[in-house]
Amino acid sequence: MAKVELENVHKNYGAKEDAVKGATFTCEDGEFIVLLGPSGCGKTTTLRMITGLESITSGTIRLGGRVVNNLTPQQRNVAMAFETYALYPPLTVYENIAFPLQVMKRSKAEIDKRVHEVAASLSISDILDKYPEGLAGGQKQRVSLARALVREPTVFLMDEPLSHVDADVRYRARAEIKHIHTVSHATMIYVTHDQVEAVALADRVVVMDLGVIQQIGTPLDLYYRPANLFVAGFIGEPPMNLIPCNLTLDGGMLRASWQSRPDLEWRYQTENIPETALRALQAHHNRPVVFGVRPQRLALRAPDAASSDGSLTGKLLVHEFLGKDGIAQAEVDGTVLECITAPSIPFQAGDLVSLSAAFEDVLFFDPDTTRRIEY
Ligand SMILES: Nc1ncnc2c1ncn2[C@@H]1O[C@H](COP(=O)(O)OP(=O)(O)OP(=O)(O)O)[C@@H](O)[C@H]1O
Ligand SMILES: [Mg+2]
Repeated sequence: MAKVELENVHKNYGAKEDAVKGATFTCEDGEFIVLLGPSGCGKTTTLRMITGLESITSGTIRLGGRVVNNLTPQQRNVAMAFETYALYPPLTVYENIAFPLQVMKRSKAEIDKRVHEVAASLSISDILDKYPEGLAGGQKQRVSLARALVREPTVFLMDEPLSHVDADVRYRARAEIKHIHTVSHATMIYVTHDQVEAVALADRVVVMDLGVIQQIGTPLDLYYRPANLFVAGFIGEPPMNLIPCNLTLDGGMLRASWQSRPDLEWRYQTENIPETALRALQAHHNRPVVFGVRPQRLALRAPDAASSDGSLTGKLLVHEFLGKDGIAQAEVDGTVLECITAPSIPFQAGDLVSLSAAFEDVLFFDPDTTRRIEY
């Protein structure tokens, strides 16, 4: 299978701003890469430039080490499952899936074997005789996926293939795609705006915003070491709590005091902070920072715990029972903080609560560059 390399690839559709601005990343042979980002960030454009369906304005694309900038989609031997699953209405599901192999002049026996294998792996063996018209959206997508997979392409590209799959079978369909990747060792590039899907499927995720790659990393990298405020806010559910603060580091104490209310502060004794973190944060002494803590890492306790390191007092607004855990919203000076809690908590709406975060669970961002302060 082939490795995919993009080097400083730009796409301009004629507008002032490029739709894709200098995309550079490599999808290794057999790797599963997900392009993730909000609507309009350039995911589909990037994918279509790899297929050859869209020309590139500048830069280089290589498949298996070969520059393909000027090759047709056919010459590139990539397969794409489309957002719109354009199946051929007069053909049955079987004939739709078989079609690419017939074009490739494969034998009848081989075609039959491949169609049944692929149909079984996608759980659509029972609808091979049906026509596309009578199928549900999710079934149509699986057929479209099957038709792309049956060719055993060198690179397999998917643009939101599950967007029309019903929520109750979405998990299964996603697991099937992951399974197909595991058994086929295909190089896969998959586009989605759904971070849960991205994190579930990817070996590595390429996060995009406004045509620019924000971070390339494993799901764990994105979650624990987001490169900047965009990634921090985009990855994770519910999103990270982000609070504009001012940082000071003196008298044995690190303080992140709220810009809206300087008397509110997250406080940490420097003796408990690793040396590397102190050094990095020292450079931001007396400067604005954005303090970030994930709802899963913000502890909600009785208010008498409020004097400990890194804690603030807030008012519980609402608590929802979610089954294996709960989610609380607590207000501190007009700012709502979200907090994942035990399934039930001994507090009522309106009660005062302590909100605390250990130093190792908080992140600091530089608001000028939006980048995370690394240590
Ligand atoms: N054929 C085209 N002609 C002109 N502009 C286009 C064309 N295709 C896309 N664009 C523009 O390029 C930008 C990126 O679009 P693209 O479709 O790649 O985004 P996307 O990340 O796939 O979004 P979505 O999640 O909505 O599918 C958008 O501003 C879009 O309007
Ligand atoms: Mg798109």
